[in-house]
Amino acid sequence: MSTNRTIALLGGGQLGRMFIENALRYPVRVDALDPDKSAPCADLATRFNTGDLYDEAAILCHAADADVVGIEIEHVSVAALERLQAQGKRVIPSPGVLRTIQDKGLQKQFYMDHGIPTAPFVLVDTREELHHHADLLPGFLKLRTGGYDGKGVMPIRSVEDIAGAFDGPCVLERHTDVAMELAVIVVRDEAGHQVTYDPVEMVFDPRYNLVDHLRAPARIPDRTANASRELAARVAEAFDAPGIYAVELFLTTTGELLVNETAPRAHNSGHHTIEACNSSQFDQLLRVYMGWPLGDTSLRSHAAMINLVGEDGRGTPQLDGADTVLALPAAYPHLYGKKETRTGRKMGHVTVLAPSHDELDKAIGTVKAHCRVVPARPLTIE
Ligand SMILES: Nc1ncnc2c1ncn2[C@@H]1O[C@H](COP(=O)(O)OP(=O)(O)O)[C@@H](O)[C@H]1O
Ligand SMILES: [Mg+2]
Repeated sequence: MSTNRTIALLGGGQLGRMFIENALRYPVRVDALDPDKSAPCADLATRFNTGDLYDEAAILCHAADADVVGIEIEHVSVAALERLQAQGKRVIPSPGVLRTIQDKGLQKQFYMDHGIPTAPFVLVDTREELHHHADLLPGFLKLRTGGYDGKGVMPIRSVEDIAGAFDGPCVLERHTDVAMELAVIVVRDEAGHQVTYDPVEMVFDPRYNLVDHLRAPARIPDRTANASRELAARVAEAFDAPGIYAVELFLTTTGELLVNETAPRAHNSGHHTIEACNSSQFDQLLRVYMGWPLGDTSLRSHAAMINLVGEDGRGTPQLDGADTVLALPAAYPHLYGKKETRTGRKMGHVTVLAPSHDELDKAIGTVKAHCRVVPARPLTIE
């Protein structure tokens, strides 16, 4: 078993922090790079560097001693990753995969080219062009690059909405009648072995277009669960490179499965795997980085993950309701160590385990009724 390796992460947010929490069980070094000097990984990384994730020189310097280079956010310089790969480092995800995924247009085209079902779409360069595609309305307009957590996505209900639409390179996608949004995480090693987790059901918060909570297993028939695992596995096979792929799916009202988008990194929809599975998404990623055998993905319990996003206002975060949540039999709060809470900012999450769907509903209700991240005191404006 090879240990004593150095992993250089690009990004130092909560995904990196949870990756490090698990990696600390082994003698591996994990360095993190982030523009924010007080990012969630700052106090946990073996070495923490501050720098821009599009600054090639900063990235090359950060990863100079590393054996493996990973990401915890897609918005990083692909050119820098290509240079690091050319130096002989193991770069996961592969720069080619990341280049495709960073651009929602190339990503949709990739699904088309590989026969992977996805909602009908066109690529446009300007707002004006949308008038030629009224047949795709009502639809969703998505910035090809730079969007995250719903911020680069807007519904276009009819031609009247075009005046206020994004003006630039975008994907216009037909509205799908979604019965349920699902996510399946697939892990692929260097030799092409793959394992998949059970599909999880994502429940959105319409206020912020963020995942409010998710539950596993999803409340779908076994054949739909199997079909969604198979479809996600096909996506990872098509990318044909080692790493972790979080595949977001739409289960339509007519029972069809469509791929919405894929993240080539650990994902919000896999946080429950820390407590609910033998090998978590973070453990699997470490295994892939290190060339170790893949782990067991089976779900040991019903589980839910409730995101804790900042309530209105900004300031030093304070968690209200923790006592009630800690009194539940299997509740696991995770606070990401962000120094400032802001309206709608992801500050942490709570995972709850329960023996049945009903018990899980109760636990979700308790967390949602009591747990709040609020600003403790306002920041002084300079
Ligand atoms: N074609 C579509 N039909 C219906 N809902 C959609 C469609 N595209 C996106 N959405 C909704 O918008 C959300 C955000 O879109 P997504 O492409 O996943 O962007 P993001 O990168 O912000 O996660 C989806 O999770 C879904 O709720
Ligand atoms: Mg999404």
